[in-house]
Amino acid sequence: MDEGIKRIVIAGAGQAGATVAFGLRRGGFGGEIALVGDEVHLPYERPQLSKEMLRPESAGHRSIRTRAEFNEQRIELVLGRRVVAVDVERHQIQLDDGRGLAFDRLVLAGGVSPRQLPGGPHDAAAVRYLRTVEDASGLCADLETGGHVAIVGGGVIGLEVAAAARARGCEVTVIEAADRLMSRSVDDTVSRFLDRAHRGKGVDIRYRVLVTELRDGRYLELSDGSTVAADTVLVGIGVTPNIAGFDALGITDAAGVRVDAYGQTALQGIFATGDIASQKNENGFGRIETWANAQDHALNVARNLLGERVAYESPVWFWSDQGTTNLQVVGNATRGRRIVRGDERGEAFSVFWLGEGDRVTGCASVNMPKDMALARRWVKQGNRVDPHQLAEPGTPLRNCAL
Ligand code: APR
Repeated sequence: MDEGIKRIVIAGAGQAGATVAFGLRRGGFGGEIALVGDEVHLPYERPQLSKEMLRPESAGHRSIRTRAEFNEQRIELVLGRRVVAVDVERHQIQLDDGRGLAFDRLVLAGGVSPRQLPGGPHDAAAVRYLRTVEDASGLCADLETGGHVAIVGGGVIGLEVAAAARARGCEVTVIEAADRLMSRSVDDTVSRFLDRAHRGKGVDIRYRVLVTELRDGRYLELSDGSTVAADTVLVGIGVTPNIAGFDALGITDAAGVRVDAYGQTALQGIFATGDIASQKNENGFGRIETWANAQDHALNVARNLLGERVAYESPVWFWSDQGTTNLQVVGNATRGRRIVRGDERGEAFSVFWLGEGDRVTGCASVNMPKDMALARRWVKQGNRVDPHQLAEPGTPLRNCAL
């Protein structure tokens, strides 16, 4: 690697930031590493916030590594501090306490924040978002108290919370602007399954409605004229990138900080990774808000910082646990030729998506983790399959590949 690189600063101490730091050490970087984050906690992974942490027996959160491991690896932690500006000329970032930190290379890994409920108020006691351990602990306490939980947004967060809240005996209403659940990432076969599964557990789901007002902190007025009285309002309507402080550098787009295939921004020596990164996809550029991307892309950035030149290529993959349902999605599970394997009206099935030449380009598996193991390999390798065999659940999946 370039011998002139003595100090790498990572702005953002979440999963992606921490993964870059440890990836640099594993790759042999001997210089200084500083990991800066506005949360006071050691870096942690967020899937636990909407899953384990909402269970009654939750014992709090797990960190990715212990403080001793950061010390051993000589990764300086600057926690509880926000990056407020990036001075490109002087190669330095500025923190909210006025301090400047010099860098030879900078990685922007500051993530995203929940989109606020349109029309607010956002500070009403009943309103909760779910992005941090404090959010999860607060929500967990609300679920313990019980009552009526209104969930705005029928996406990943909304549905995982809906399942957790029902399991703990709360009344639950989901308010979704679109005409189906999780429309961003699955097709209507899977949306219909989710609707059935959640209704089966007693969740009330309202479609094509928006919250027009939150009255007296707990009455949600909806665009169809109805009112939902809630003890807790959980808002899960997507996220916005944390780009304040470097939005004037010309490296951002509508989705976040734009990076090339090597994780580098338009500015030499400045990289971005994790949820904040706007990465190339089949439709242009956009965020990939998944655990797997925070892991794999961050490791890829670490390698490129160390002087390799490896383009990032990894199909999107995520999972969601909603009560007893395990949903997993790989690649694009909304486009192409659709082949359903199993009974889409049942409890377990997979929806495969085929592109040109019957190559597998995506898959959504509902309670079929074994299908997903192979689907991930196929999508990554661009394997071709026999669509007729694939539609035949009696044929072992591995025999469907051509
Ligand atoms: N009212 C009701 N529903 C809305 C509104 C609104 N004003 N605006 C958006 N929605 C709906 C969308 O149609 C979608 O179904 O909210 C849902 C948001 O779902 P996601 O985009 O999946 O976002 P969210 O569930 O908030 O998750 C945020 O956390 O775990 C990660 O991968 C997850 O990156 C995602 C992030």
